[in-house]
Amino acid sequence: MIDIWQANSYGKYNHENDFSKNKIDEFFYGYKRITSDKNGNYSFTTIFPGSYKISKDIVRPPHIHLLIKTKNNKSLTTQLYFKNHPYNKNDFILNTSKYKSLLEVSLTWSKKSLRTGIFNIVI
Ligand SMILES: [Fe+2]
Repeated sequence: MIDIWQANSYGKYNHENDFSKNKIDEFFYGYKRITSDKNGNYSFTTIFPGSYKISKDIVRPPHIHLLIKTKNNKSLTTQLYFKNHPYNKNDFILNTSKYKSLLEVSLTWSKKSLRTGIFNIVI
């Protein structure tokens, strides 16, 4: 099971604890629970998340949160980032992770004019 949540394209979460003044997108829910197939494959389609300020000087880069739970109750909470985004280099969470290179997803354009990327998860 994978819970996925993210900010909208303006950097606003659809959550009561997001007190930012960033714009609400009433057409974007921002949360989804999915399950992988029997081989562990998963996919989802979403919008590109916006960045958001968490203090006067700190801006979080675009990222997507994931909480993965296995059938035998192992879990992992993580965030995926987008490779080469300029805000990544100053992000304190990404840059203190010993798995930084694994958390940055490279996006490529697909035939359907969508950007796609692969984020492998190992628990
Ligand atoms: Fe976040």
